[in-house]
Amino acid sequence: MSLFDDITAGKDQALSELAATTDAAGLEAWRVKYLGTKGLSRQIMQRLKEAPSDQKPAAGKAANEFKNALQAAYDEAIKKVGATAAKGPVIDVTLPGRKPAIGREHPITQTINELIELFGRMGFSVAYGPEVEDERHNFEALNIPPSHPARDPLDNFYINPSVMLRSQTSTVQVRVMEQGPPPIRVIAPGRVYRPDTVDATHGVMFHQLEGLYVDEGVTMIDLRTCLDQFAKAYFGPQMTTRFRPGFFPFTEPSAEFDMSCPMCLGKGCPVCKQSGWIELGGCGMVDPNVFEAVGYDPQRYTGFAFGMGIERMVMGKHGIPDLRLLFENDVRFLHQF
Ligand code: DAH
Repeated sequence: MSLFDDITAGKDQALSELAATTDAAGLEAWRVKYLGTKGLSRQIMQRLKEAPSDQKPAAGKAANEFKNALQAAYDEAIKKVGATAAKGPVIDVTLPGRKPAIGREHPITQTINELIELFGRMGFSVAYGPEVEDERHNFEALNIPPSHPARDPLDNFYINPSVMLRSQTSTVQVRVMEQGPPPIRVIAPGRVYRPDTVDATHGVMFHQLEGLYVDEGVTMIDLRTCLDQFAKAYFGPQMTTRFRPGFFPFTEPSAEFDMSCPMCLGKGCPVCKQSGWIELGGCGMVDPNVFEAVGYDPQRYTGFAFGMGIERMVMGKHGIPDLRLLFENDVRFLHQF
């Protein structure tokens, strides 16, 4: 058979096979068989050299037409199969995407992290203590005698007569001092528990930030400066702070410290109950009895301590009127921070 006959026969066969092919897999097999690198079209091209020289131009033309005809028939068939496939499941690429629900830190956690960062810049490292505590760390070592009203079972969550949920983070002061000698400069954020009646400013669980600085020659000026710097750094340079005389068994002298109300800047508003001040916490110079309880020499060392409520800071910073909002887990509320 001549090359021309093979071309004619090959074309007839290819086109009839193609007509019988209806799916994409069949089409691909057909393409490989006739148009692939080892396919019939290529084989015919390679046989062109067999043709006698006077027939070469005609043979070349016939081979090219063969290839083009098969390619055109194939392109046409692919379109049809594609159109059928498109009738299957439809993907609407114009639909808006689904937004992943990305979580965020709770405002209390955010605040704790900010405080850790801020006091870190003043050289304070972070310490943590257990929430289930013994009486030594919650009371005794903190110079709170058994007769003290703070130890009343009605004011604490006792688990048994000597174990309780800690009522203050001051426990961590004792734990840190027990671990080694001064100098010490730590803050201790954490949860504390008290059986209070729940209202807009009280809960049975809340968070405190404790601070402790012990070294030779620490004075009340350091305490005053530290807390003033803190208020300015956290709430803004326009903040002022004040100390009022106070009493805590583990500090002597003790003070309550306030800062000007961030809402009204001291003019008086509902948030500060018209006083112009927001109470931040308690503080003072570590009582020598506390040093003795942990084996420090009170003649050699002095130190200051402070403790403040974290909820109050969050509420002050964001203007949140009711503490309970923070713990209802309503994501619409929490999403704002
Ligand atoms: N622990 C106190 C409380 O819960 C707060 C406090 C007051 C902590 C004075 C201190 C401090 O470290 O020196 O009310």
